[in-house]
Amino acid sequence: MGRLILRGERCDNGLAMSFTVTTCPLVEARAPRADLADFTVRCPEIARAARPGQFIMVRCGDFTLRRPISICDADGDLVRFVFEVRGTGTAWLAERTVGDALDILGPQGNGFTLGDTSRPAVFVGGGIGIFPLLHACKPFGARAAVLLGFRTAGLISMVEDFQAAGADVRLATDDGTAGHHGLVTDLLRARCDAGAVDAIFACGPKPMLRATAAIAEEREIPCQLSLEQRMACGVGACLGCAQKIRRPDGTETYAHVCSDGPVFEASVVVW
Ligand SMILES: Cc1cc2nc3c(=O)[nH]c(=O)nc-3n(C[C@H](O)[C@H](O)[C@H](O)COP(=O)(O)OP(=O)(O)OC[C@H]3O[C@@H](n4cnc5c(N)ncnc54)[C@H](O)[C@@H]3O)c2cc1C
Ligand code: FES
Repeated sequence: MGRLILRGERCDNGLAMSFTVTTCPLVEARAPRADLADFTVRCPEIARAARPGQFIMVRCGDFTLRRPISICDADGDLVRFVFEVRGTGTAWLAERTVGDALDILGPQGNGFTLGDTSRPAVFVGGGIGIFPLLHACKPFGARAAVLLGFRTAGLISMVEDFQAAGADVRLATDDGTAGHHGLVTDLLRARCDAGAVDAIFACGPKPMLRATAAIAEEREIPCQLSLEQRMACGVGACLGCAQKIRRPDGTETYAHVCSDGPVFEASVVVW
């Protein structure tokens, strides 16, 4: 397959960011559920550059705007991403089959700063926010506690992947059909009470992230949050993904979730 590779660079606030726009063959396409696709593409340029917590922008058919999807894992030449069918773009994408070429921009965003991976860390994920946590928790191995929250048991996915990475996985469901009956942040509180937690990394719906940030602040645990925001350009050009944040001097400003984030220190996010 002929591959077109373009490279771009954006410079903002003194931070240089480079990304690739390329066509990549889909080498594995699984459908763990009717509304969930688990894709792997061969994309050496993006796979080698990807850091945990970054995402890709995938062209979906004739739509002008690409769709943002987290990098779930990057290994060698391969990039894995897992996505729910939400609207017309992801519905088109989920119908692609092995051998199809996908038009992808990435890796995009800043990603998590993992720091010392020999310390005990907790990863908190809710819904589609669980997917980027696999790449992030892997370097921690058995030192990672992965707390996953879902609405109901039928929506649980990826547990075996996290276990294969060595993590201690705990589940919570809103309706009590699997694991703890209640919020995933109840599990976080219990985990913090049970022993040392040196870092928290979280991705999921805003109320979950806000509660996670509050627990981290109470206990003075460093915490990074990956925010989800509706995106248009995905490269910092349109202001479509603005998020209010606090500067070190206490004044407030807006950041781009796509290029300044999606990961922010919990302490800077203005809710
Ligand atoms: C940084 C980031 C990472 C993401 N990672 C994943 C992932 O790993 N797995 C997954 O299932 N979903 C993920 N999402 C959500 C995913 O981008 C949306 O579900 C998808 O864009 C919906 O597109 P659609 O055409 O099917 O829906 P439509 O509602 O038809 O989309 C219309 C437009 O709105 C934008 N849009 C709609 N919903 C969202 C949303 N939630 N976030 C951002 N833009 C949106 C689309 O990009 C498109 O421009 C992520 C979103 C962000 C911002
Ligand atoms: S989506 Fe355009 S600036 Fe972030």
